Amino acid sequence: MQVCRRWCSVQGRAALVVSLVCGAWPAARAAETPAAAADAFAQNARLGRGVNIIGYDPIWKDRARGRFQAEHFALIAGAGFNHVRINLHPYRDARLDAQHTLSDAYLATLDWALDQALAAKLMVILDFHEFTAMARDPRGKKERYLAIWAQIAERCRTRPPEVLFELLNEPNGELTPELWNEFLREALALVRRTNPNRTVIIGPGQWNGIGQLGKLALPADDRNIIVTVHYYSPMEFTHQGAPWTGQKDKLGVPWDGTPEQLDAIARDFDKAAAWAAKEKRPIYLGEFGAYDKAEMAARVRYIGAVARAAEKRGWSWGYWQFDSDFILYDIPGKRWIEPIRDALVPPRQ
Ligand code: BGC
Repeated sequence: MQVCRRWCSVQGRAALVVSLVCGAWPAARAAETPAAAADAFAQNARLGRGVNIIGYDPIWKDRARGRFQAEHFALIAGAGFNHVRINLHPYRDARLDAQHTLSDAYLATLDWALDQALAAKLMVILDFHEFTAMARDPRGKKERYLAIWAQIAERCRTRPPEVLFELLNEPNGELTPELWNEFLREALALVRRTNPNRTVIIGPGQWNGIGQLGKLALPADDRNIIVTVHYYSPMEFTHQGAPWTGQKDKLGVPWDGTPEQLDAIARDFDKAAAWAAKEKRPIYLGEFGAYDKAEMAARVRYIGAVARAAEKRGWSWGYWQFDSDFILYDIPGKRWIEPIRDALVPPRQ
């Protein structure tokens, strides 16, 4: 369903707890246990500017083959970013068994990424990125989904408040907004057993589309939640040349930052801001960007406009993505894509 993926949202505007793999924890970690629930608005302000990382990196299969290295955390922080959103695909853990037990190697990579990010003074969002599998067969995958959350939550229970959990990237397809409301309640309750004070990020159904916020039903008494939306509108521009949206051959679509184009972003964001004000929830724009087949000057204009529009409304944001496509940093070439970096974090005058 990748073809229809965000088209739909754009157009429409558009317990199991299995035996846990909790090992013994070093005593030093216990001291880091968050004492009280953080204020979600304060957490969101600290999240500030961020970037999505290692979702599609071979690092999860074999640490030695990882593109992303420890030094990249410090580079990201040094460029002025405040957090990383780690895109987790735990269903790809080759050793996942019928009990849904994550392998030691997978969890060790997770620990490594958390240690390195925190050492670089970056906040970290652990984003459960198995949206495609969950969209195809939500009921069939539910047991696995909850079982893996139980393990990740247990593993991270003593991590500091700078670590946040995001329950699921872009619910869509068979995981309808209504069904997602049921799943998120169960997942949140499960996470809260081990992480009562953890800030949790949750987005609406249909690809985390702004137009779906009205259908999102969060537990009213849990205030330690940041709500996330994604923004790739207009898709014709942001996903030009992207095979997974059926736009492989549609290149050369401009984005000039005309008053009408800027108004379109403002109108969409104002809808989300109005919902957030009514519901008293902070907003995290967890993904936005333009595929690297679009013309560079247009990408720069668009990315800067979206980032500033989010900041103007007090939202935090995470750019999609560090390397590979939508590219911000060229790992083999060891260099920033400077126009994109500067559009995201404008150099001080
Ligand atoms: C997906 C990527 C995709 C990006 C932009 C992300 O949520 O995981 O596969 O490239 O969105 O469409």
